[in-house]
Parts: sequence; C-alpha cells; structure tokens
Amino acid sequence: MLLGHEKENFLYLPTPLEYLSQISKDLGVEFYIKRDDLTPLGMGGNKLRKLEYFVADAKAKGATLLLTTGGVQTNHGRLTCAVARKSGLKGAIVCTGQYPGELSANLLLDGMMGCDVWIKNPDGIHSDDELTEMAISEVTAHYESQGEKVYFIPMGGSNELGTLGYYECAMEIAEQIKGTDLEGAHLIDTLGSMGTYMGLFAAIKNENLPLTLTGITILQYENVWDYAVDYYDRIRKEFGLSYEACKDDFDITTDYDRGAYNNPCKEVRDAMYYMAEKEAIILDPCYTGKAFAGILEMIKEGKIKQGEKVIFLHTGGSPGINTPHHRVEIEKERGHFVHEF
Ligand SMILES: Cc1ncc(COP(=O)(O)O)c(C=O)c1O
Repeated sequence: MLLGHEKENFLYLPTPLEYLSQISKDLGVEFYIKRDDLTPLGMGGNKLRKLEYFVADAKAKGATLLLTTGGVQTNHGRLTCAVARKSGLKGAIVCTGQYPGELSANLLLDGMMGCDVWIKNPDGIHSDDELTEMAISEVTAHYESQGEKVYFIPMGGSNELGTLGYYECAMEIAEQIKGTDLEGAHLIDTLGSMGTYMGLFAAIKNENLPLTLTGITILQYENVWDYAVDYYDRIRKEFGLSYEACKDDFDITTDYDRGAYNNPCKEVRDAMYYMAEKEAIILDPCYTGKAFAGILEMIKEGKIKQGEKVIFLHTGGSPGINTPHHRVEIEKERGHFVHEF
C-alpha cells in the first residue's frame, strides 16, 4: 500500500543498480544504471511499475479489458497488453497514424500476445488529439457491445495513479544507496509523458531522499515547466503531499530532444553503439538512447562534472531498435560487422 493505493505485485523488485566500469573510466564520471529495462513481463520497461497500480484498480473495478493509447509503436501499449494477459484480462491499444508496413518491434509483440491494435488513419479534418478521442470512444463502444468492461489507461500511464510506480522506485533507489557514497547522486531520467519523472520528483521531495533529479525530454513540449507544475499540483492534491513545488524545482532539460519524437538521429545511434560496445547494454532510439546522447553532451559541456556520481534510469524500450525507420539506419551503419565466407 503506497499513499492509500494497493498494487499488484508482478515485478521482482528491486531491479539491479549496476556500476558501469568501462564507461565510468572512459567518461571520468561514476556512472551507474538502474535496470528497469530488466523488469520481467513483455520484454520489460518502466511502464510496468505504473501498471502494477493500474491493474489493482482495474481488478477492483471488475474490468475485463485494459485499453490504452499511444503512438503506433507504443512501449506503454505493449506493456499494458503484457500485464493484461498476465492478469487473465484482454488488452488493446488505440493509436492515430499509419501501419508502418510490417509487423515488427512492439506491434509484433502486441500481436504475439493476442492483443488488438486499432490504428486510426489521419483524415485531414481532425487533429491527432481529436482523432484519438474519437477512436477511443469508438473502440470502447465496440468492446462494450461485446460485453467487455473496459478500463482505460491514459497515454504513458501518466496520471496521478501512474506516478506511484516511480514514487516507489525512488524509494527503492534510496534504499539501495543507503549508507554508500552514492547518497546525493544525480539521478537522470528520460522524460516523455512525464509520469516517471513526476513520481521520482514527488518521492525525492516528500520523502527527503538523498538524490538530485534531472529529466531529459525526448519530445517537444510547449512549456514543460508549466506542465510539470500543473501535474505536480494534481498529485499533491490527490495524495495529500506536503511539499509545494514551483517551476524552479523542476530540473528538466529540453536541449537534447533532437527536434522531433522518435526521429532517427546519428548522434543517438552513436550513443547507443557506445553503450552496447562498452557495457553490452541495449538502449532504444526513441527514449533511452536519446537521453543517453544528451548525457554524453552534458558531460562534454561540463553540465555533469568530472567525478560526479550519476545514476541513469534505464526505462527499457529495446524492441524499438526493430522499428523499420531505425533498423534501416542501423543496418547501413553496422551491416559491415557481418562477414559471410
Ligand atoms: C522506454 C521508455 N523510456 C522512457 C519513457 C518515458 O516515460 P514517461 O512517459 O513516464 O515520461 C517511455 C514512455 O513511453 C518509454 O517507453
């Protein structure tokens, strides 16, 4: 029970906190990684911690089907399907966009788990947000007409309830570093729909945890700090938290978002190859690779100081290496490692 809410336990927590010796030596910082990519269901990732709370709520409400929304290759959708299946429920995803022309990456995994993905094509009239709203209503009505009780989870699982997963994760990290010289370490997180960052932030401030936090955005916010203030205010009221935050509390950088969501970028792939070659850890091109590329720049720019203790939260996403628009670039750059003779 956390802040008045029950959860289902389907993760083997705590996830490992690993020291990356080769990268640390190379970069001159003490680099640790929190392996939330190693969470067990549906190939793992950060959304599972949030989903422990959503599943408990869905079951309490008698749901038979978990429905969510996101991009066509949503990691959150894949993991919603995973926890639905593991809990004996149905899972389904609604997106706006186009079928990428092949069943790969998250779409492949959604299909393997037997979960519907409903892709609404743009109609040139409605905005993406309007289309998504319409599609969610249409798909919900479809399932309800079949007798299903639909439990809807918002994009990224980033509402008040979803933040609890990472509130708990921050407390878990604090426990792992207790009494070590990692107390006071700099925790760095990939910021998408913000639930992960907000959960970590809320716990650090309200539980007085010895961590500082930076979020690196990987998509384009109009004003990420205003959004953060509003979001925090909602969870503060919902959970009766005592800490009152202002804009300056949110250490969020938008400097490394590379101009678009999930776009192929050479610097991001180079950062991914670097991590893979040095530490055999696979990052993804949409989220963690982009954030890690940002971290490498922050080190070069002196924003992360030499000798600093950094904990990078690995939030998963590795199926994304197989999305066609990323894979084709990786093939071009890395195909020469295959030798047929
Ligand atoms: C792999 C990965 N990392 C990070 C994030 C960002 O998490 P949040 O949306 O909670 O900011 C996501 C969200 O989809 C993700 O899939």
